[in-house]
Amino acid sequence: MNLNIVCIPGDGIGPEIIAEAKRVLNKTAEKFGHNITYKDVLMGGVSIDTYGEPLTDEVIEIAKAADAVLLGSIGGNTATSPWYKLAPELRPEAGLLKLRKSLNLFANLRPAYLYEELLEACPIKKEIIGNGFDMVIVRELTGGLYFGERRTQEVKGEVTAVDTLSYSEKEIRRIAVKAFEIAMKRSKKVTSVDKVNVLDSSRLWRKIVEEVAEVYPGVTLEHMIVDNCAMQLVKNPNQFDVILTENMFGDILSDEASAITGSIGMLSSASLNDTKFGLYEPSGGAAPDIAGKGVANPIATILSAAMMLRYSFNLEEEAGRIETAVKQVLAEGYRTVDIMPQEKNRNQSVKQVGTEDMGKLIAERI
Ligand code: IPM
Ligand code: MG
Repeated sequence: MNLNIVCIPGDGIGPEIIAEAKRVLNKTAEKFGHNITYKDVLMGGVSIDTYGEPLTDEVIEIAKAADAVLLGSIGGNTATSPWYKLAPELRPEAGLLKLRKSLNLFANLRPAYLYEELLEACPIKKEIIGNGFDMVIVRELTGGLYFGERRTQEVKGEVTAVDTLSYSEKEIRRIAVKAFEIAMKRSKKVTSVDKVNVLDSSRLWRKIVEEVAEVYPGVTLEHMIVDNCAMQLVKNPNQFDVILTENMFGDILSDEASAITGSIGMLSSASLNDTKFGLYEPSGGAAPDIAGKGVANPIATILSAAMMLRYSFNLEEEAGRIETAVKQVLAEGYRTVDIMPQEKNRNQSVKQVGTEDMGKLIAERI
């Protein structure tokens, strides 16, 4: 099979983690007789430095023409980087949002599960964690506060900023359908998260989700208010299967979910539209503090590449091979620094490795 992949290494640790994902993809392609063509393009801070804007129209067109996009990370230190002195629409994150919108990537899937090997890295007590957890957060990605009207203006002599949280029926319905479809292939439970006790957008959200649920009688639907969900994620994460939620809530809850998997460096993601096309990226940021040091965890990016093989290319066996290789390397005791157990819990078999070695170890086991 021919795979046309656009790569956006981006900023910070992006280039380092993308290099390892490519290494693993190349090994997989070699083993299974596929042919991958990569095209590397710029987005985020590096694009600002080169073209004066975080995402050029040319890059959007290149991405549209590909089968899938593999993204590292974008952005820098918001307190110190000159990128954050620019107008908001010229900052690195604006490039990512524009790309999501231009490609209509409304469905963001973030699977969060606990590898038994990483039990020691999970900050939650063992008696709460029990047999671990395995959930997928289905986050709406092209609506809500991220894309509503916003402005900063003077009102009665005082500077006032406004952001708008808006959702249409259609936007809610299509993401709900995705969540229920995914639930059908899993444990058949959807937890829809909203703030129905305060927000109109949440009241509409709940109504439409209930309508969609009628089409899936085999799936149990439960509603949960977002603050309670934040609490439940650390009190009893095992209760969740599919979490369906709007853009901003999903952004926050997915970081929380990643922390209980051991590290944000473990959380992969797929952003999908209604076609086979997808954008695949780790859920974590550019981590400018550790960029260039060779210590970043490439696993989330490698697992995102596996999701790409599964969702954009239907290569289930190949995707599974990558996931098994990750598990194997963890079982053998290899850890990047973010998933190292605390010293008192470390046994002999645990070995700390850098970004490149982690990538090589996984590639070798494909
Ligand atoms: C994420 C990130 C982005 C988001 C940022 C970089 C704009 O936090 O993918 O979760 O908020 O969506
Ligand atoms: Mg986020």
